[in-house]
Amino acid sequence: MNWTRHHILGLADWVAPEYDILLQTASSFREVLSRRTKKVPALQGQVVTNMFFEPSTRTRSSFELAAKRLSADILNFSPGSSSLSKGETILDTAKTYLAMGTDIMVIRHKQAGVPQAIAAEMDRLETGVCVLNGGDGQHEHPSQGLLDLFTLCCLLDSDNPRVDLLKGKKIAIVGDILHSRVARSNIWSLTKAEAQVHLVGPPTLVPQFFTQMATQLPGDQLFLHWDLEPALRGADFVMTLRLQQERMTAHLLPSLREYHQRYGITRDRLKLCHPQVKILHPGPVNRGVEISSDLMDDREFSLIQQQVTSGIAVRMALLYLLGTLNS
Ligand code: NCD
Repeated sequence: MNWTRHHILGLADWVAPEYDILLQTASSFREVLSRRTKKVPALQGQVVTNMFFEPSTRTRSSFELAAKRLSADILNFSPGSSSLSKGETILDTAKTYLAMGTDIMVIRHKQAGVPQAIAAEMDRLETGVCVLNGGDGQHEHPSQGLLDLFTLCCLLDSDNPRVDLLKGKKIAIVGDILHSRVARSNIWSLTKAEAQVHLVGPPTLVPQFFTQMATQLPGDQLFLHWDLEPALRGADFVMTLRLQQERMTAHLLPSLREYHQRYGITRDRLKLCHPQVKILHPGPVNRGVEISSDLMDDREFSLIQQQVTSGIAVRMALLYLLGTLNS
């Protein structure tokens, strides 16, 4: 299979060979990043514009570094200091960056659908510009889903990461599933890899409607729990998620203390899992809430720093696949 995708807006319709192309490409960039000169000329002369309408530490810096490692020129847009505050629309902002010669736009917005709308406008105008979703509302965060996949597959076979390594693995995703675009992207990628995905959290944050996602999947692959124990029992991986209080419009939680008591990942609770269990978290972490502080820093269990490192190779792969298709 050859790479044909022009925009990366979500993982819902990705097929297994596409994941494998991405994993192999990321793997070769991981090798580049281990060299003394961590840079290749692949995107020389191309312009990547980071348009982040929502706060971000990891994703934005990671895309920026990935673009620089590929020798692209990078523009960084931040809403506070832009003409948005003077009433310019998002589409007009995008067209301004288009007029400067942007080839790839990375877009994050609190509203689901904004990257899709910009991609549609770029296509309508026949610009050839590629759009990458850097996280839209509660919808999807494809580059995070892919870096999580890469982290897991590299752990299982560092030399040859591929999706079939995850077949039959049990992965518990714990916490605020309702507001999480990371969870949604991971559900698509992990079930496509034929892993068993167990969602767990309080009923207010793991609503019944996630069972509808299960009906779109072949076979028994997605399970819902409101108690931690059945989700953790025998789990190979535990992915914890931040409580996204900025997106909570009602009182969905009793208190952070109580949440930690019922759903926090601690050393004691890890005993329910597979002995070699590993923990992931997309960050930012509320220390001592989703996960106990000591566990977060314990390299024996925590993949959190590896996720951040993987993110650069994965985003290089995404920019490269789109950028070389462009030229
Ligand atoms: C996530 C996001 O922004 O969706 N973080 C990230 O990109 N690494 C998760 C979160 O904000 O909790």
